[in-house]
Amino acid sequence: MSDIETLKQENRVFEPPAEFVKNANISGMEAYKAMCAAAERDYEGFWAQLARDNIQWQKPFTKTLNEADAPFYKWFEDGQLNVSYNCLDRNLANGNAGKTAIIFEADGGQVTRVTYKELHDKVCQFANGLKSLGVKKGDRVVVYMPMSIEGIVAMQACARIGATHSVVFGGFSAKSLQERIIDAGAVAVITADEQVRGGKQLPLKAIVDEAIGLGGCEHLKHVVIYQRTGANIKLVEGRDLWMHDVVAGKATTCEPEWVDAEHPLFILYTSGSTGKPKGVQHSSGGYLLWAMLTMKWTFDIKPTDVFWCTADIGWVTGHTYITYGPLAVGATQIVFEGVPTYPNAGRFWDMIQKHKATIFYTAPTAIRSLIKASEADADVHPKKYDLSSLRLLGSVGEPINPEAWMWYYKNVGRENCPIADTFWQTETGGHMITPLPGATPMVPGSCTLPLPGIMAAVVDETGHDLPNGQGGILVVKRPWPAMIRTIWGDPERFKKSYFPEELGGKIYLAGDGAVRNEQTGYFTITGRIDDVLNVSGHRMGTMEIESALVANPIVAEAAVVGKPDETTGESICAFVVLKRARPTGEEAKQIAKELRDWVAKEIGPIAKPKEIRFGDNLPKTRSGKIMRRLLRVLAKGEQITQDVSTLENPAILEQLKQAQ
Ligand code: WTA
Repeated sequence: MSDIETLKQENRVFEPPAEFVKNANISGMEAYKAMCAAAERDYEGFWAQLARDNIQWQKPFTKTLNEADAPFYKWFEDGQLNVSYNCLDRNLANGNAGKTAIIFEADGGQVTRVTYKELHDKVCQFANGLKSLGVKKGDRVVVYMPMSIEGIVAMQACARIGATHSVVFGGFSAKSLQERIIDAGAVAVITADEQVRGGKQLPLKAIVDEAIGLGGCEHLKHVVIYQRTGANIKLVEGRDLWMHDVVAGKATTCEPEWVDAEHPLFILYTSGSTGKPKGVQHSSGGYLLWAMLTMKWTFDIKPTDVFWCTADIGWVTGHTYITYGPLAVGATQIVFEGVPTYPNAGRFWDMIQKHKATIFYTAPTAIRSLIKASEADADVHPKKYDLSSLRLLGSVGEPINPEAWMWYYKNVGRENCPIADTFWQTETGGHMITPLPGATPMVPGSCTLPLPGIMAAVVDETGHDLPNGQGGILVVKRPWPAMIRTIWGDPERFKKSYFPEELGGKIYLAGDGAVRNEQTGYFTITGRIDDVLNVSGHRMGTMEIESALVANPIVAEAAVVGKPDETTGESICAFVVLKRARPTGEEAKQIAKELRDWVAKEIGPIAKPKEIRFGDNLPKTRSGKIMRRLLRVLAKGEQITQDVSTLENPAILEQLKQAQ
């Protein structure tokens, strides 16, 4: 039975705990259904009311949704606001000034706390600093920083002055960073001297130098450096400045720049089907609204909660559920630097115990690796820790397999915490399909039902609805406030990727397959339908990795496919043809290593193929198309039972069967 068949037959149901339901922000399925019905009845009215109730507008909007230029939808377009004002100043005004905003725990365990007032002051000082450098509304600023209070300050300061930030994950290479700086046309990069992960110091500023050295970054005027480790770094006169010098003597207040609701808050690059990463552009008003609502609905946030999202600010989860969502609702949150396995695999449990986390949000990959670790070493098993502060768990980034779900439920949640298996994407801005912890009965491996106002559906290739039980394409039929606005600098690609003509040009194509349960209508995500891989919850395009491989002078051709992996969900398997004879034995191992390091240099270590196989050729059709579906079967180590009659060179399959 395939994994999907198993999931379709998963029939364990877990009701939300009665205590939870009683106090929940959305309590019971009737309340959920009533909200969905309200959205169906008056879609614009539904969103308009929420936007008025949740956001503090400098200038109230009068228009809710503008569909005239679909799929370039506009929300609340004549309203004005400032996202940083909504996250910070509002909390000073409503009695949260002295409340802890962030509990930061560094890789070595040192803890730093900041209150809302302190965070506000830091953001204002840095915003004033950026202004003094000439950074202004509409400019793009790249943030290449470690997990830190300063990273959040940098993003919030950009929001405050109306500059659009583009955060690049600290694991990306100089080349990836350079491409993003150029594509965004950034005027400044904010970085750190180094980052610290698992006790190791790793360079950041040196990579920025290398990226700029690759050329094409003439629009870049400033590099601002947060001093994390005190490592010896080179400063370029007239370009590089320390963050502490930039903020020195600056005022702790800064009048926010009021921007239109559609003003781009950020661009975040993500992988698509083709080689070049896409700059997903998000709005200010609609995005903020959804960050707040999902904090309230999915995470049932309360003033007493200690919220912990373990993501990195380099990914969308870190944007919505660290930098913006928790602050906009005035929550106390934990932010951590490092890895879940250092100083040992009990780090998460130890931190939950120490800081009394009440809501914990992490990725299935982390859970799976911690299951393994706790089987090997009983001391890092969650039951060794006091996790009684927890009341709600969440999962994000990839499908969670029922076994991992059960382990999480039993061992971390003590069968007393609902699990929100949140399906969403960089493009969606926030959660789309997820159980509501005080309402939805949970089924392991299913993200259950769409949030109120999200018109998700499963359709066939022509956009027609499919009956429950039949697998198809996941779409969203109506625009929603937090949706992607465009691909930075490439509106045509935006239309083609997300609103294809075949589906009528107006419904959002998620890029995932899905199936709904026959009885409950619950959604199960069946995986990407395009050439995007999900390795440890990180999105990567097969074409991106292929382009990196063929950029190596010894490589003639390469094809990359995903292979199921117990821990990382999927792993990368590359089939490579060299310009020289096919290597075998030790030589093959050696070249495979060189190529893996090459990919790390080209993209970043997260894109390294786990496995590389060499062939004299790749399986191709007579017209020269690589038959990837056969490569997927080979990567899995399964027998090919499919039709190979269109294959020009069947003998090649035998050769590629062999892993090195
Ligand atoms: C996958 C991360 C199943 C999916 C927030 C999606 C999931 C891609 C889930 C987006 C989930 C994310 N269940 N699959 N709960 N959450 N995915 O842009 O394939 O990094 O399209 O956003 O991750 O990844 P991204």
